[in-house]
Amino acid sequence: MRILGIESSCDETAAAVVEDGRKILSNVVSTQIEKHKIFGGVVPEIASRLHTESISYVVNEALEKAQLKISDIDAIAVTYTPGLIGALLVGVNYAKGLSLSSGVPLVPVHHLRSHIASNYITHPELEPPFMCLVVSGGNTLLVKVDGYTDFEIIGRTRDDAAGEALDKAARTMGLPYPGGVNLDKISQNGDDKAYSFPKPRVDASPLDFSFSGLKTSVINTVHNAEQKGETIIRENLGASFINTVVTSLIDNTEKAMQTVDTNKLVLAGGVSANSVLRRRMDETAKKHGWRIYYPELSLCGDNAAMVASQGYYEFISGKRADMSLNAYATMNITEANY
Ligand code: KG4
Repeated sequence: MRILGIESSCDETAAAVVEDGRKILSNVVSTQIEKHKIFGGVVPEIASRLHTESISYVVNEALEKAQLKISDIDAIAVTYTPGLIGALLVGVNYAKGLSLSSGVPLVPVHHLRSHIASNYITHPELEPPFMCLVVSGGNTLLVKVDGYTDFEIIGRTRDDAAGEALDKAARTMGLPYPGGVNLDKISQNGDDKAYSFPKPRVDASPLDFSFSGLKTSVINTVHNAEQKGETIIRENLGASFINTVVTSLIDNTEKAMQTVDTNKLVLAGGVSANSVLRRRMDETAKKHGWRIYYPELSLCGDNAAMVASQGYYEFISGKRADMSLNAYATMNITEANY
């Protein structure tokens, strides 16, 4: 079964064709990074306009690369939540038009479900149940994946996502957008004990995350140093900050793994590309005897192959959308049962 995936939730316009949820036939990503760089972050209005300009080229290229026509496609899967509303609407409306004109069924896909599905492409043997740590720019979540379309939230961030904290830390240190990846690069040889930060904790809910205090703390560190005329060693500050974020992610994952029967741990989302997170999570997995899965680096960020993969599982579970499909800026991963 061949699914065409369409993704436009943030700053990548993407389309892909995936066979039976696991095999990529084509995967096209048009990134807007260069256009947003001068503003230091994604400008929603510009993102929507750029999606509108490129979406038909990107979808056509995905079909051409897969050497298929729209009539060869079994379903069109589109990201409809969560994300920037104007950006999501471009993909949703394009997919609705394509479905209406071709008669190919339309399947709505939750963005975080598709981040998880990037692992089905990378690891063809991976099947639920498993625990998943989803760490992206907008979300940080511990989810028990009981089935391909069956999720239970175990822990979530109470405020900012880990990616947001890393991006803001990078920006405050003068690193270009996208911050997280540049912070990772400059921190490779830094001393991760040089600076100390408060350990984030949510007292009443030990499996929940909180990154906003940490974000404020790194911003204050930089501003205080500037006011005193002191020099910040960015490599050390970056390494210390990443280390604190990663410790919080690992601590909660360890607690969450104690609540489930499975020893399979899956990571997903843009921050799962982080080198420190991968190294330290590998060590933790070894210590506990967990089997650990990451998406391949090229599938960690936003792409449409993961949308097509999750779309396949949503499609075979019977999910369909009609022309009333709308986009939603926020929605829980458990509620995406359009
Ligand atoms: O999953 P994603 O591409 O977009 C969302 O769906 O949110 O995640 C983007 C986030 C950004 O915060 C970006 O800075 C972060 O992932 N990121 C990284 C790395 N690569 C991307 N953060 C830390 N280290 C990286 N290597």
